Amino acid sequence: MIRPIVLYGSPILRQKAIAINRESDYLPELIQDLWDTMYNAEGVGLAAPQIGVSRQIFVIDARALQPPEEPPFKGVFINPRILQRASIWTTHEEGCLSIPGIREEIARPENIEIEYYDENFQLQRSTFSGIVARIIQHEYDHLIGRLFVDYLSPLKRQLLRKRLRSVSNGKVEAHYPTTYV
Ligand code: NI
Repeated sequence: MIRPIVLYGSPILRQKAIAINRESDYLPELIQDLWDTMYNAEGVGLAAPQIGVSRQIFVIDARALQPPEEPPFKGVFINPRILQRASIWTTHEEGCLSIPGIREEIARPENIEIEYYDENFQLQRSTFSGIVARIIQHEYDHLIGRLFVDYLSPLKRQLLRKRLRSVSNGKVEAHYPTTYV
């Protein structure tokens, strides 16, 4: 089901999400809702807090942004933990479905090693690089209450203040469906 996307200014985007239990019976529905909402918004990634669910899960379909030489990547990340970050950083433009209308250049480590559970609750440990690593780091940040605009300089944030405020004035309140609690 397509869910309303929670916008900048909603407190849930600043909370630390809670780990998901293997026995959680809401999981298949939550994963489907994340895919439906992400594709409907033409996004490449979406984290549960963005649909009002403060749980440690995000989905990614990087195919639209990947260069043709890369293997196409699509995946579900549950209870992820970034184990290592490269010392080499690269800069690339980012946006966020919760902060519509704002895109900025953000520097991040070029590759990461991450441990997570997939949609079948199998433990995975992988290294990602390039655009996939960037999307993973952006979505991972959502699970710890961090947004890409946090990385901007105070001056840059000052310049964006009005636009950020107009986003938060139209914010969608988190709906906390009872099935997810
Ligand atoms: Ni985002």
